[in-house]
Parts: sequence; structure tokens; C-alpha cells
Amino acid sequence: MGKAVNIFVCQSCGSVHGKWAGRCDACGEWNTLVEEVPAQNAPKSGRRRKSRAIAFVELDSEIEELPRLNTGIDELNRVTGGGFVPGSALLIGGDPGIGKSTLLLQVAGFMAKANCKAAYISGEESTAQVKRRAKRLGLSDAPVYLAAETSIGPIIDGLMVEKPDVIIIDSIQTMWTDQLGAAPGTVAQVRACSQELTRYAKKSGAVVLLVGHVTKDGQIAGPRVVEHMVDAVLYFEGDRANQFRILRAHKNRFGPTDEIGVFEMGGAGLVEVENPSALFLDGRGEAASGAAVFAGLEGTRPVLTEIQALVAPAAFGTPRRAVVGWDSGRLAMVLAVLEARCGVSFGGKDVYLNVAGGLKINEPAADLAVAAALASSVFDIPLPADCVVFGEISLSGDVRQASRTDARLKEAAKLGFKRAIAPQNKSTKKDASPDQLPIIEISTLPDLISRVEALSDG
Ligand code: TYD
Ligand code: MG
Repeated sequence: MGKAVNIFVCQSCGSVHGKWAGRCDACGEWNTLVEEVPAQNAPKSGRRRKSRAIAFVELDSEIEELPRLNTGIDELNRVTGGGFVPGSALLIGGDPGIGKSTLLLQVAGFMAKANCKAAYISGEESTAQVKRRAKRLGLSDAPVYLAAETSIGPIIDGLMVEKPDVIIIDSIQTMWTDQLGAAPGTVAQVRACSQELTRYAKKSGAVVLLVGHVTKDGQIAGPRVVEHMVDAVLYFEGDRANQFRILRAHKNRFGPTDEIGVFEMGGAGLVEVENPSALFLDGRGEAASGAAVFAGLEGTRPVLTEIQALVAPAAFGTPRRAVVGWDSGRLAMVLAVLEARCGVSFGGKDVYLNVAGGLKINEPAADLAVAAALASSVFDIPLPADCVVFGEISLSGDVRQASRTDARLKEAAKLGFKRAIAPQNKSTKKDASPDQLPIIEISTLPDLISRVEALSDG
């Protein structure tokens, strides 16, 4: 028997190395290798223990409908696809201070009041701190089981005694197991603790919610394996200067991943926002140049947001391209198409693009709204205030139809918009309802530019 050799694990990608190095060969990150003692319960090599054989079922055999636990928060029900599924584990990530603990304490409170047994285990705050927060949220009377603990062993033992239906672990990075020599927060610890808690969820039928911190570049700290282990990964987005918070599913084994939940952080915790469009468009002033309202789609729900662009002469050197809430690669593409197909030049000019309200848009249908905002800023011509814009731009300068045009038009009409700049709506050409929003049809990008230019005369 050789003596146990320590290994070095990259904290960024989780790859294992035999010796220390300044840089991880696998992912190229610097200073990420940390020494760890291999798990003591690693399988003994050699003979395999005789075990029970698995039982197979047929693919077309009867399935049971997934039971769902109502979370007490409609927006969260929507994101999870109808509520929590018993026996599942979820990871909830987000920047520090974004409101993860607040949301989950509210969930625990609501569910406890609705006769679910809910446990909230905090590794970051004392029970007194959590109680104070609960008081602020108006949930001090909720029968939530509260504990402040970081060691997984006692936590699992406690859970086996109390058998809660919903368990919140805040946060997974503070948890540690004495099975490993590694320090809390390291990849090995995060992985082992997640594994143990996920296993507990499957075995007991409880819902386990893990809070995960994100790193500077926006990924959940710890290896990707945690994301693979859990059944759903939800991200809490939004900037702290803003009141709006968006909960988005990045992975969901039991539901869709394109639905968002919108919340507003107030004095008494997070409040659901039923009509996000009205919220995102709130505070829109007089029509100014460089702003376009995009009729977008988040999952099944149409959401209207304002896209703001500013094109200004560059002070020195390389012009700046700054984007908030949209993909910078996509902006480069729209700028290139505007230059090549419409002769609008951005050389020597700074371009700033911002999606109002802190929403992150990743729909290609926003292309046309971005182009309209840019053109409006370049020519210094405001777009009509009663107009929404959507459509996908191809490299040739053609504008393609976006999905579910009708839903977008309906939402825009509901909020008082009178027309839309969009490609032709082919889906309901024949039986368009009479009260449908009229479309100013655009089939190429040069079309859009001439429309915008015509606005200054009209
Ligand atoms: P928190 O839930 O502690 O964030 P996380 O767990 O994601 O780190 O969020 C705390 C922030 O929210 C904090 O800066 C204060 C603010 N907040 C409110 O505005 N209203 C409230 O009712 C509460 C509880 C917090
Ligand atoms: Mg917290």
C-alpha cells in the first residue's frame, strides 16, 4: 500500500493535478490550484462488492404526474415550471446582496404558513440575524425551522429527525464536511456537500434549495459539476442600484428555461411584479433621440423594454463600445451591417447601448430595436413615442420575422402603443383581427434608415 498522496485541484475548472503549478494546464487560470487530501472513502481498488441488480422499466409504461409544491410566490412558480418538485435539488445563484437570502426566507415563510414543513439553515448569519430579517419581512410568526450551522454531518442528522419538506441551505460555499481535509469553500468541499444534500433530497423526497455565490465573471463559484448535480439552476439578476430583480432558469429538469420572474426589492422584501412591461417603461419621458421600445419575449411572456443608444464623437484613440444588458458581439454585428449595408458610419464614434431597467436581453429579435435606437441617435431624430420595434437582422441587411409577433403586438397595444416597426407578419396575414396594432413593414435595414430619416421631415 502506497501512502496517500495529496492532489491539487483547480478551483476554477475542477481538474486534478499531481503537483502544484502556478497555472492550471486545463483552463489556463493562474493561481487556482489548491492542495487537497483525497477522499478517505474513495472506493477500494480491486474486487467489486456484489450488489443488488437494477430493475428496468419500459419507456411507455405509465408515468405519474409530477406533484408540485406551491412556493407561495407566483413568479417563482412560473420560473420553476409550476412549483417545486418533491425530491429535487435547486441551485440559486446571484451576486452578493442581490436578494437571495431574502427571497428564500420569504419562500420558507410562505410555505411554512401553508402547512409545509420548511427549514432554513444559514451558514452566513446567526439565527438572531435571520429572525431580524424575518421580522422585517413580516414573517416572524411563520413556523420555520431555523438553524445556523455549517457542518454537513449534523445538518443531515437534524434533517433526518425533523424531516422538513423544504430545506434552504444558505449558502453552499459555507458548508463543509469532515470527510475531506480541504477548507470550506474549495471545489472539493462544495462538490461533496452538494452531493450529500442532493442525495438527501432524492432519498427523502424533500426539496433542497442551495444558495450559490457567483464569482466575478458571473459563474457560480465552485465547479460546474454542482450545476450538473442539481435539477434546476436559477440565477437572480439585476443591478443593485436598481429595484428590479429578475429570476431566470438556466437549467430545469422539470420545466422550461426561458421563463423569467420579475421582482421589486422594497422595504419589506421582494414584491412580485405582475406587469413587468409597465415597470420597465415607467419613467420614460418625452421622446428623445436614441431610444427605441423593444417588444420582446421572455419565455411565454411578452416584455417591453426601452433600448437606449448614444453615438458620440470619440475623444481619443480607439472608439469605445459599451453595452449594458445586451451582447456586445451582437452590437458589433448590428454596427457592421449598418455600415456595410446602409452606409451609416460609426468610425471615430463612441457607441453606448443600455437596456433600461436592468433586464438582460438575449433575443435576436432585439436587433432591429437596437438598429433603430442607433440610427435615431446618429441622425438625432427621436422615434415616435407610440411605436414599438422588433425583428432579427441578418448579415445581408434583411430583416427577418420574430417569433410570436401577435403576442408582442398584443402586449404593446395593451400598454397604449399605436404602431410597430417590424418585418411583415406572415403568420396572421389573412385573419388579422381588426384591433391588431398596425405594422410599419420593414424588410431590409436600409428601409428602416429611410423611415427614420423621413421622420425629421414629417
Ligand atoms: P440579501 O437577501 O441579503 O442578499 P444575498 O443573500 O443575495 O446576498 O439582500 C440584501 C439586500 O437587500 C440588502 O442590501 C438590503 C436589501 N433589502 C431590502 O431592500 N429590503 C428588505 O426587506 C430586505 C430584507 C433587504
Ligand atoms: Mg445571503
